[in-house]
Amino acid sequence: MAAEGLPDKVKSRADLPADITIWEVGPRDGLQNEKSIVDLGVKLEFIDRLADAGLRTIEATSFVHPKWVPQLADASDLLAGLSKRDGVRYPVLVPNDRGLDRALEAGVTHIAIFASATETFARKNLNRTLDSQFEMFDSVVSRARAAGMDVRGYVSMVFGDPWEGPVPIDQVVTVGRRLLDMGCSQLSLGDTIGVATPGQVEAIIRAFDAPDALAVHFHDTYGQALANTLAALQCGVSTVDASAGGLGGCPYAESATGNLATEDLVWMLDGLGLSHGVDLNKLADTSAWMATQLGRPSPSRVVQALRG
Ligand code: HMG
Ligand code: MG
Repeated sequence: MAAEGLPDKVKSRADLPADITIWEVGPRDGLQNEKSIVDLGVKLEFIDRLADAGLRTIEATSFVHPKWVPQLADASDLLAGLSKRDGVRYPVLVPNDRGLDRALEAGVTHIAIFASATETFARKNLNRTLDSQFEMFDSVVSRARAAGMDVRGYVSMVFGDPWEGPVPIDQVVTVGRRLLDMGCSQLSLGDTIGVATPGQVEAIIRAFDAPDALAVHFHDTYGQALANTLAALQCGVSTVDASAGGLGGCPYAESATGNLATEDLVWMLDGLGLSHGVDLNKLADTSAWMATQLGRPSPSRVVQALRG
């Protein structure tokens, strides 16, 4: 019997992956875009509560230039204050060698690099050209792998770019394959500004022809994130990025709104009978608490329905 107000589990659908890994990005993608800088203590409590709710991969922060993203300038202090739990991974974003040095000093074991599929966003987000971003990542990935780290690769602006418009699939696949060839263990396809629709999602996943190596990362600007996620699951992808309460955005892409809310994802996965390990009630409590800290309601429909 499900908790009151929550859907009963149904038999899992044979055409979908049975076990879903939720890659929680709220503390990083969510908080990097907040106007105010959230207190370190609140960030630490947020991460701890997410782990308590059953999330096993929690993207904790970024070792980017503190002037570029002041909201995450406390990355080293955050790692020092984190009470790490067994079985929970705490990956961080790292753009370059300086970021990797800082991550190594902080005892990080999982990192993610983040490439752009477009020229304009590479310049705006990384101060590099599309081509020269790979020189920066090459060094990071080889050093990180040599140090025994696991490295995820993001590709941003996969489905559309606010300056360049639609992005050709070949261009995305070329960027993504370079990251996999460099030694990234997983590629997360980022709909940075939330413009994708399910047909495009299917086309890009089929073009990579490697669903086991892929994750999807949807922002919900046009309300398509859940439909896009289902399309990705139907193509065999089993890792889905989401942000508690639907926090999120990108400070270098103004049209980016919040990520797919983790609660909305969990509600759908429960309805499909797919396992994910997250306690929806504890998670919704966490997002309701975080909304109070931030002084505004959560945009997640499920949080509103359960806690509104
Ligand atoms: P730059 O200005 O070209 O850096 O920035 P540089 O290499 O020329 O170095 C200039 C100075 O910065 C040097 O100091 C470096 O040491 C220092 P100086 O010698 O002059 O005293 N520096 C650093 N200090 C601390 N940490 C560092 C670091 N790097 C250099 N890591 C850089 C290049 C990549 C650093 C900058 O562009 C940057 O930090 N960008 C990050 C922007 C960002 O975080 N964006 C949001 C994340 S991406 C995203 O949200 C999308 C995603 O969610 C997926 C999706 O939605 O699609 C992942
Ligand atoms: Mg993002």
